[in-house]
Amino acid sequence: TWTPSNIIDDQVAAIRAQVGDKQVICGLSGGVDSAVAAALVHKAVGDQLTCIFVDHGLLRSGEAEQVEKDYVAATGIRLKVVDASDVFLGHLAGVTDPEQKRKIIGREFIRTFEAAARELDDERHIEFLVQGTLYPDVVESGGGTGTANIKSHHNVGGLPDDLQFALIEPLRTLFKDEVRALGAELGLPEEMVQRHPFPGPGLAIRIIGAVDRERLDLLRAADLIAREELTAAGLDRDVWQFPVVLLADVRSVGVQGDGRTYGHPVVLRPVSSEDAMTADWSRLPYETIAKISTRITNEVREVNRVVLDVTSKPPGTIEWE
Ligand code: XMP
Repeated sequence: TWTPSNIIDDQVAAIRAQVGDKQVICGLSGGVDSAVAAALVHKAVGDQLTCIFVDHGLLRSGEAEQVEKDYVAATGIRLKVVDASDVFLGHLAGVTDPEQKRKIIGREFIRTFEAAARELDDERHIEFLVQGTLYPDVVESGGGTGTANIKSHHNVGGLPDDLQFALIEPLRTLFKDEVRALGAELGLPEEMVQRHPFPGPGLAIRIIGAVDRERLDLLRAADLIAREELTAAGLDRDVWQFPVVLLADVRSVGVQGDGRTYGHPVVLRPVSSEDAMTADWSRLPYETIAKISTRITNEVREVNRVVLDVTSKPPGTIEWE
């Protein structure tokens, strides 16, 4: 019978057999798949695993800390953090085209990960790379098993020829809810295990317009309020995802206190979905929407209007870029 602890035992035995006494690396994204895959491998081979977390500066409030502190505390995993936010934001400066943003982020992510992997490889020869590939990903990509390419959360690229690793994919037979069950059994932080899907390019594709630190801070503040109120209302499981989008190049007139304001709108984009291929806008209770709106306009300077996206997918996409 399928229980999380059976799966863990089977996987731990399989990973030990595969890895032997060799060294392993794993990239963490802050998402549940890589977190659970790494925790499984760590349970199997302990300090033979080193994780790499590339902080691109585009995560939501608290997410980098969750990886660097809570996750490490819960697992005891050895983690190499690369703070690459200056590099990412430097390359993104002035860029408004959505595909361009994605390209830049994907490219820089691979570059940064590669450099970190190379450094580790020099320290201790690395033989294996862990990937959090799930069953639906396997089916989607035709079922082949690869050897050395990084299918990161950005789904890009491969490693150069002189940096070859064999893959460990302990989640290949599992669905998302099963992965969450394993994560809980492995003692990972609840917020991490239950986290909604979040795109690899992060908040960069939720700022409509060019990305900079100030805009990221605005969006982080608004996003945190939306997440807090969704949780407080007990509605986390009722939505698939809840993007909050900053229309950074739009301003509208408002009034606050006895002054006129000229601020930015944010868009609330709560959606319901089974697999992100299609989606519908979530009919969240108006009281929750109202609370989020009031708090955002009160607490986030520069935001003077909150709008609700009531578009299904298709024709809309979940993200705005
Ligand atoms: P859309 O916006 O196409 O999104 O309806 C479908 C799902 O994919 C996520 N998404 C991404 N995930 N890298 C990712 O890892 C990306 O570049 C990316 N773009 C969109 C989105 O959050 C939703 O879950």
